[in-house]
Amino acid sequence: MPTDLLDRWLTALLATPGLTALRDPDEARGVLLDDALRGMPLVEREDGPIVDVGSGGGTPGIPLAASLASRGVTLLEAERRKCDFLEQWRPELPNLRVIWGRAEEQPLESYGVAVAKALAHPPTAVEWCLPLVREGGAAIVWVGPSVDLARVGLVAERLAARVESADAGLVVLRKVGPTPAGFPRRPGMARKRPLA
Ligand SMILES: C[S@@+](CC[C@H](N)C(=O)[O-])C[C@H]1O[C@@H](n2cnc3c(N)ncnc32)[C@H](O)[C@@H]1O
Repeated sequence: MPTDLLDRWLTALLATPGLTALRDPDEARGVLLDDALRGMPLVEREDGPIVDVGSGGGTPGIPLAASLASRGVTLLEAERRKCDFLEQWRPELPNLRVIWGRAEEQPLESYGVAVAKALAHPPTAVEWCLPLVREGGAAIVWVGPSVDLARVGLVAERLAARVESADAGLVVLRKVGPTPAGFPRRPGMARKRPLA
């Protein structure tokens, strides 16, 4: 793993206003880097390109791209300013791509796996991620201890997916069919009127 690159990325992320509220370098390393890498074994076992939905300053996408050099990793981010920061890392990570846009407005089913960390409440994050994933692929969502897995499961069902595992704050949703008609809903709806 290119630790020098990841150290420089973390330092730049902390030094750039508006990318993270974290100020303590050790805490930032734990939350933005170490916690992202916890998902690597789950991502690694999936096939196909990876999309990090709501990448912010680049986590978990940049740590994953640096560690899995043979896998294409797309950082999808709605805020232009954050995309400008993310673009800086492309010359050093040829497998990295940055898209400025919203999850609800992307082509459907283009990825083998979608990851999301601190994107939104889990029911909303799941609704945004699953349409991006092809049948047989997975969405992997970082969640807090208060996650309501029953709600997540209901949303997954509406989007042709099921909860495959939920362990140590990582929920894996398996896409078992094509994206149902009517999804994605128009921008903002998943947050305003969650499915469950
Ligand atoms: C709280 S930040 C988390 C960033 C990063 N994943 C992390 O863990 O630090 C959520 C990010 O998701 C982006 N975002 C929110 N809704 C989005 C959407 N519908 N499509 C793409 N990005 C979105 C926001 O602009 C923001 O940068």
